[in-house]
Amino acid sequence: MKIAVIGCGYLGAVHAAAMASLGYETVGVDVDEAKIERLRRGEPPFYEPGLPELLKAGVDAGTLRFTTDVSEVAGSDVVFIAVGTPQRAGSDAADLTYVDASIESLLPHIGEGTLVAGKSTVPVGTAQRLADIVAPTGAALAWNPEFLREGFAVEDTLTPDRLVYGVADGDDASVARLDEVYAGILARGTDRLVVNFATAELVKVSANAFLATKISFINAMAELSETVGADVTQLADAIGLDARIGRRFLNAGLGFGGGCLPKDIRAFQARADELGHGQTLGFLREVDQINLRRRDRMVALIDGELAAVGGDRVAMLGLAFKPNSDDVRDSPALDVSRTLQERGRVVKAYDPEASETARRSVPTLEIVGSVDEAIRNADVLALGTEWQQFRDLDPAEVATKTAARVIVDGRNTLDARAWAAVGFKVIGLGRPD
Ligand code: UGA
Repeated sequence: MKIAVIGCGYLGAVHAAAMASLGYETVGVDVDEAKIERLRRGEPPFYEPGLPELLKAGVDAGTLRFTTDVSEVAGSDVVFIAVGTPQRAGSDAADLTYVDASIESLLPHIGEGTLVAGKSTVPVGTAQRLADIVAPTGAALAWNPEFLREGFAVEDTLTPDRLVYGVADGDDASVARLDEVYAGILARGTDRLVVNFATAELVKVSANAFLATKISFINAMAELSETVGADVTQLADAIGLDARIGRRFLNAGLGFGGGCLPKDIRAFQARADELGHGQTLGFLREVDQINLRRRDRMVALIDGELAAVGGDRVAMLGLAFKPNSDDVRDSPALDVSRTLQERGRVVKAYDPEASETARRSVPTLEIVGSVDEAIRNADVLALGTEWQQFRDLDPAEVATKTAARVIVDGRNTLDARAWAAVGFKVIGLGRPD
């Protein structure tokens, strides 16, 4: 079996490495020369635990190649489309430029017997449109959404919760082909659902919309908790014990960011508007608003504490949108840092992996090389991303390295009692002081 993967960003690079690890001759294609150069050396262009090893194994074994020349997909049995679908500039809708361009570029190199399998997150209706474009070549098209999480991308790709195949009515050949590709994964008893195009597209966006809604639900409870003196963490523990609700994705704090949930809920809404269902998904606007308000709340809390101590220096621990990632796209921690800076505060930030990406995104932000440097002259400490390194900090040791005695925990992740025991005021989001 020969596999090609178009687009070697987050999704594509991981998928290509995973395909090679399953024993297939795999070629990854991307227009970005620099990215391809790095991948050829077995180096991922982003931080992802486990991926360097997987890439290197494939490259060293000769089963995994990378190229900028799309004609090298010729002869592939399956061509996966894994290009990005970012938010369109000046709009909430998804930008399908890369998906459309990759399909166009493929047309001369595919034919009878090729399966084009879309993995990118697309607005409902896209797969059918692309199937019509591909059809004259004789190739088939399927939609096979991906549910990987950054930080767990390798694990999620090789041991997914489920596989979803969106195929045209009666297209058993594409189902059989995908079954062959995923044989090793299916052999472990992984659920596999065969559905139509629209369902496959909706499974992906509705899963992300549900997760975003779950987070914003608990953050709405955090807003209320702040007013009435309740503790949102205890609330989440209590409601999460109901198996129908579940405790996962009920961590209140700074809310969701990253390259997926925020843009996906906006694109979903924009698509619903186009379909005359604006009202149906109107609640997602609220989900977005609740999420963004948490950032304002964190800024206000930090501002309030700075005013109380008569200082203006903030140490921000964490910039990535979540731990185990160097991704700062729509990162709440970075957003809060930038806003504080715009308000004239002096921010020194530290992140174990996201310094470079954050610097590119906000060049004016002062990013230092260690926790110690960030906290040394700070008036208030703030936690924006719950890296294990920050959870493991010894409050007694921190107290010897900074004069600050307030920490605003934007992820409700610190052991408040241990910090309080050495004299820190710990402020959570949605928790009483
Ligand atoms: C998300 C989905 O979880 C994946 O299933 C999906 O495949 C992916 O988007 C995608 O569409 O490609 P990801 O963006 O990597 O994955 O990150 P998540 O782990 O979902 O976290 C998203 C954000 O929510 C982070 O900023 C995180 O800090 C925040 N979050 C998560 C909370 O604020 N509270 C929680 O309880 C959980």
